[in-house]
Amino acid sequence: MSRLIVISNRVSVPKAQGAAGAQGGLAVALLAALRESRGIWFGWSGEEVEQYEGKLDIQRHDGVTTVTVDLERQDIEEYYNGYANRTLWPLFHYRIDLAEYERTFGSGYERVNEKLAEAVAPLIEPDDLVWVHDYHMIPLGKMLRDRGIANRIGFFLHIPWPPTRLFVSLPFHERLVRTMLEYDLIGFQTEEWLESFTHYIEKELGGAIDEEGCLSVDDKTVRARAFPIGIDFAEFTEAGCGSEAKAAYAQLKSSAQEKKVLIGVDRLDYSKGVEERFEGYERFLEGYPERREDVLLLQIAPPSRGEVHTYREIRERLETLSGHINGGFAEVDWVPIRYVNRGYPRSALAGLYRASAIALVTPLRDGMNLVAKEYVAAQDPEDPGVLILSRFAGAALQLEDALLVNPHSADEVSEAIRQALDMPREERVRRWKTMYANVRDEDVEWWRNRFVEALAG
Ligand code: G6P
Repeated sequence: MSRLIVISNRVSVPKAQGAAGAQGGLAVALLAALRESRGIWFGWSGEEVEQYEGKLDIQRHDGVTTVTVDLERQDIEEYYNGYANRTLWPLFHYRIDLAEYERTFGSGYERVNEKLAEAVAPLIEPDDLVWVHDYHMIPLGKMLRDRGIANRIGFFLHIPWPPTRLFVSLPFHERLVRTMLEYDLIGFQTEEWLESFTHYIEKELGGAIDEEGCLSVDDKTVRARAFPIGIDFAEFTEAGCGSEAKAAYAQLKSSAQEKKVLIGVDRLDYSKGVEERFEGYERFLEGYPERREDVLLLQIAPPSRGEVHTYREIRERLETLSGHINGGFAEVDWVPIRYVNRGYPRSALAGLYRASAIALVTPLRDGMNLVAKEYVAAQDPEDPGVLILSRFAGAALQLEDALLVNPHSADEVSEAIRQALDMPREERVRRWKTMYANVRDEDVEWWRNRFVEALAG
């Protein structure tokens, strides 16, 4: 097995992890692959330094080497808060109304990618497989090629690729996409995002696509395929059997009394559709007053990217909206929404999911969405809950037996809640079984192996 070099904006440093299960499922899976191949995980430390000098923080733990660099303030502003999270993130989630096209963001993004390429290039040995992740690092492969790295280099985009008509609003879009032609393999979460990308290659760059998914533009060729990511099924299932999961389950069950819990768990981000979800829930409370006190919504939303104004704004709007709904509907002994701005370890989430009769996973646009998959994995096979899932999440292409909704329609969300509450057990079991088989079989290891094999082959 070739040694794997994983490059991503965030690095999960094993020794820095807190409570069991605090680590994301992706980190667990990548660390397992890195351990097997005695590989390296490289990226930004998340820390700021007065002046960037390319100093590497190298740590070895259990066969895995993590290498991180600190960035200086201007870099963080222009690359992470700027181009990554104020330009690409909104644009790639179809929000050109929120995308900001500041010239300094683009130049900062390129500058930081150059710095990262410069720092990681000396660590790469001739037989290594290099795997670059996500929208923070789109041009990194090209910058490695410029430094003479001839290894196989793959890129995986964790978020959607937008339709061409939106994407072309990005200044210098062609320059960015041409850098991607230097990869050997490009992976997307779904066929839909892959189609948008190939459409761009054909229409804007005059490229050609063969049946194997090989794209050629002028003298460059690159393979592009969909690799839907899964959860770490084994680890998550095991966490669900632990004491933390059981305690979280018992606590939610007892505090909910006999009410049915609807659960939402999202990083606090405008793409997650939490505002629209609250409006859909409000529509349900208005439309079915007799059922009000049978339900409660637990929304867990840890704050994220707080230096970016659009994130501060969504946080304020959600506080106002949850306050408005609670103020309007609450009784002395019942509050319709429990809105919690903090994160929980995934082991506790497993218990909370199992205690919830319904999951509301209603992003306006999402590359995949692993909350939907974790909810399915956590259910009691004899009495599973119902997944209400946005048709605009990548996961909807695999979880067709969820109740699929248009998250923009408060009426549809409200009606799906009603349908879920009334769904007979046999139907819940039938829908859950097919989703469960998919979540179990197409897990994160399956995803990682398919990508790495395609890259190596
Ligand atoms: C999404 C992105 C990841 C990112 C994560 C958390 O899932 O695809 O690349 O790490 O959000 O966002 P943050 O900005 O906190 O890293």
